[in-house]
Amino acid sequence: MEFETLAIHAGQAPDPESGAVMTPIYQTSTYKQNGVGKPRQGYEYSRTKNPTRLALENCLAALEGGGFGLAFSSGMAATDTVLRLVDSGTHVVAGNDVYGGTFRLFDKVLRRYGLSFDFVDTTDPENVADALTLQTKLVWIETPTNPLLSITDIRAVADIVHSHASRPLLVVDNTFATPYLQRPLELGADIVVHSTTKYLGGHSDVVGGAVLVKDRELYERLAFLQNAVGAVPGPMDCFLVLRGIKTLPLRMDRHAENAACLLELLDGHAKVRRLMYPFLATNPHAGVARQQMRNGGGMISFVLKGGKESAIRLAEATQLFTLAESLGGVESLIEVPAAMTHLSTSGSQLAVDPGLIRLSVGLENKDDLSKDLEQALNRA
Ligand SMILES: Cc1ncc(COP(=O)(O)O)c(C=O)c1O
Repeated sequence: MEFETLAIHAGQAPDPESGAVMTPIYQTSTYKQNGVGKPRQGYEYSRTKNPTRLALENCLAALEGGGFGLAFSSGMAATDTVLRLVDSGTHVVAGNDVYGGTFRLFDKVLRRYGLSFDFVDTTDPENVADALTLQTKLVWIETPTNPLLSITDIRAVADIVHSHASRPLLVVDNTFATPYLQRPLELGADIVVHSTTKYLGGHSDVVGGAVLVKDRELYERLAFLQNAVGAVPGPMDCFLVLRGIKTLPLRMDRHAENAACLLELLDGHAKVRRLMYPFLATNPHAGVARQQMRNGGGMISFVLKGGKESAIRLAEATQLFTLAESLGGVESLIEVPAAMTHLSTSGSQLAVDPGLIRLSVGLENKDDLSKDLEQALNRA
């Protein structure tokens, strides 16, 4: 079946009890057993398995072209659980432009457990090759990255990683692209991670995460960790993400259409020093982006000539764009990464330009969005 059909139906048969078309919110922690150690339908306790969560996990697995999915209580919980695959003493290679919270987890938490990290510019796959050691067991990339929207060639990195003697796993955080735009498992990645809080949920009403894999043995190791660590989402949250996913293809097309309209305003604007978008002709990796992504998505970043002060004035001057963290919802958001989402990178090699603005372009009328951004730019 094609993506649009899977988004609506995968993992979600009508409820066997009532025929309910929508997967019920199984708000239960435990399940009646037929006898001691004899669960009725494989359900014992909801940290281990819950029918609403299972529907979401199977839906996401189908969309990513993976065999297996696991849902988590947040994107960071999903990331943390993946990192628990490796032992103390392991070396991890990660992109030097990953989400600030991912950097914080790696740098401020996991280093204390004996992991070491190298953050490299993965837009040149040779940098990944140079960073690999015999202790490297994980390579972590984002593409497009948060917040600079840099593009990494997933297939090229997968080839390098898989031919290395230490056999590391390649993890791709696919949050910005979603499986509608890009399917990393088909390009050679071993693991895909999502913050379902963003485009998959799509309505800024839920925090969640997911991990998708093709390999059964890897899935079983991750499912063990999901249950042992316990960072699972509740059934209501799973229901909300499932509902959001049904309109994902429509939303992603419109996000990109609206973004294209705003790019026209920003490209060459007197106050903009640098504009970033995956498909932009000036992006040195636009060719790779066009190869591995269906469209350029709904995120736009740009640096203002006026620096930090100008960025703050702009972000505080919009009326339709809401000044807020997060992204991927139906409403347009604006933020200053250096002072908000990426504050934790300040002073590190991942620090972002204080004059950087990040837009999450929503689904409002594109002319309304354009007018709002224009009046705010005039005041910046
Ligand atoms: C690319 C990316 N990965 C992971 C996360 C973390 O997800 P969550 O906020 O759901 O924990 C975020 C959050 O902004 C993100 O942008």
